Amino acid sequence: MLPLLFLGLLAHACLVRPQQLQPKNIFILAGQSNMAGRGGVVNSAWDGIVPSQCQPNPSILRLSANLTWVLAQEPLHADIDANKTTGVGPGMPFANVVLAKDPTFGVIGLVPCAIGGTAISHWGRGTSLYKRLVRRAQAALQDGGTIQALLWYQGEADTVSKEAADSYGAKLESFFIDVREDLKSPMLPIIQVALASGQGRFVDTVREGQLGIDLLELQTVDAKGLPLEPDGLHLTTQAQVQLGEIMANTFLQLIPSNRPILSPIQSSAPRRCSNFLLELFQSE
Ligand SMILES: *[C@@H]1O[C@H](CO)[C@@H](O)[C@H](O)[C@H]1NC(C)=O
Ligand SMILES: *[C@@H]1O[C@H](CO)[C@@H](O)[C@H](O)[C@H]1NC(C)=O
Repeated sequence: MLPLLFLGLLAHACLVRPQQLQPKNIFILAGQSNMAGRGGVVNSAWDGIVPSQCQPNPSILRLSANLTWVLAQEPLHADIDANKTTGVGPGMPFANVVLAKDPTFGVIGLVPCAIGGTAISHWGRGTSLYKRLVRRAQAALQDGGTIQALLWYQGEADTVSKEAADSYGAKLESFFIDVREDLKSPMLPIIQVALASGQGRFVDTVREGQLGIDLLELQTVDAKGLPLEPDGLHLTTQAQVQLGEIMANTFLQLIPSNRPILSPIQSSAPRRCSNFLLELFQSE
């Protein structure tokens, strides 16, 4: 009885501690519609179906359009890609899988920045989208934390003309290098998605550009073959769940070996309530 009461009190103490103020593991989500999320959107209406892998979790926050942290929930980009109907994207399943596989990871802060229909030229240094990404990333760091990775899924808009497709790889590489420089994180891990679809016929050319970039700490996951909505362009909800899981597994493999996974007792990280609870449960 007594241990239970103790656990109850402890859990209560954890609950009242605002997650909003904790240092966060920050992920920037950028690109176009498949990153913003169109899973479950047909004829400009979202079906509202949120699979278990995309459900809210008190340890997953989202930087809203007005730069405040709120509990993250689908659609993650609703107030960012605000002129479009948004649905399920890869962000929530990504974060849920990271926490499920590494319960000591801590609070995740997602920073949605993706806008549907945007070409790589809209993201170059100096553009409004680029500046907003940097501004939101800086705002995300204000309560402490680390930018853990940029998750990038874009290029469908660059498949329409051969010229755009041919120059895609070089522009994307410059974008990655510029973002790392402006976020003062030269080794910032980047996980990009190789296209599953496109708005035009040069999908393979854009994919070659994506796959041809050779930067350290850049990982590419392939969305080719994942199920698409009837529009032939957007990943379905289930496809987004799969993509989020693949991206999470890729990210967890990038984590330096000095940070133990699934071993809270050896962790040198500052003790958090969640660690402590986990240890107590494990020692039962
Ligand atoms: C900021 O946005 C969040 C989420 O949309 C909302 O709950 C909150 O009230 C807003 N805060 C301000 C100060 O506008
Ligand atoms: C939405 O559309 C309005 C009017 O065209 C534009 O001013 C605004 O920047 C757009 N917002 C987003 C998030 O694209």
